[in-house]
Amino acid sequence: MPSLQPPVTSPGKRFVLGVTGASGAVYARRLLGVLLDANCEVHLSISPSGRQVIQHELGVDLNLDAFDATVLIGQRDPACGNLVYHDHRDLMSSIASGSFLTDGMVICPCSGGTLSAVVHGTSTGLIHRAADVHLKERRKLILVPRETPLSLVHLDNMRRAVEVGAIVLPASPGFYHEPRSIDDLVDFVVARICDQIGVAHRLMRRWGEA
Ligand SMILES: Cc1cc2nc3c(=O)[nH]c(=O)nc-3n(C[C@H](O)[C@H](O)[C@H](O)COP(=O)(O)O)c2cc1C
Repeated sequence: MPSLQPPVTSPGKRFVLGVTGASGAVYARRLLGVLLDANCEVHLSISPSGRQVIQHELGVDLNLDAFDATVLIGQRDPACGNLVYHDHRDLMSSIASGSFLTDGMVICPCSGGTLSAVVHGTSTGLIHRAADVHLKERRKLILVPRETPLSLVHLDNMRRAVEVGAIVLPASPGFYHEPRSIDDLVDFVVARICDQIGVAHRLMRRWGEA
């Protein structure tokens, strides 16, 4: 049944969303839709491996050289937030500079490779550089890794990520909210990301709320 509640929005907020090649493309697609529905401005960049995983997991064949967001998230209401796409190689992009103000960055999903590049500052492309910028500017940087089991390399890199100021938010949904579908599990993770970056949502019932 459609919700009669008015949409919750966070207008005027601007985020960077990096999508890399870990499993969990569905989280990225949902997060992007939720941020736009909340009237945020989203600066999106997708790594080549991220594109491959999107193709494999969502059956969506993105052309990163001629990006068309409707292929990924369908037609949006023009009243929704603004989406700006940045090529993963384009270091001339606005989001490569700290002078371009944002309210934070999320890398979702975040591969082990990108996690390593971020925490060691070995930026080779725009997503790594934008993460570097968020760390140096002391802005919110949320990393959403997905891997199992975790090696000591992963664990060390996650510890270092927390030490340098990032938030490590693994794509590991809880089950205490009584999920009934995969969508519920996806929304759990996306809800926790939105909580971290201060975006209003009604994706899940909060513990302790009726
Ligand atoms: C179908 C598929 C699933 C993958 N799943 C994961 C994963 O869950 N976690 C991970 O760290 N890497 C995963 N990888 C490997 C990364 O894509 C690979 O390390 C890549 O170099 C990451 O590059 P990027 O960080 O620039 O996107 C996967 C690769 C493929 C093709």
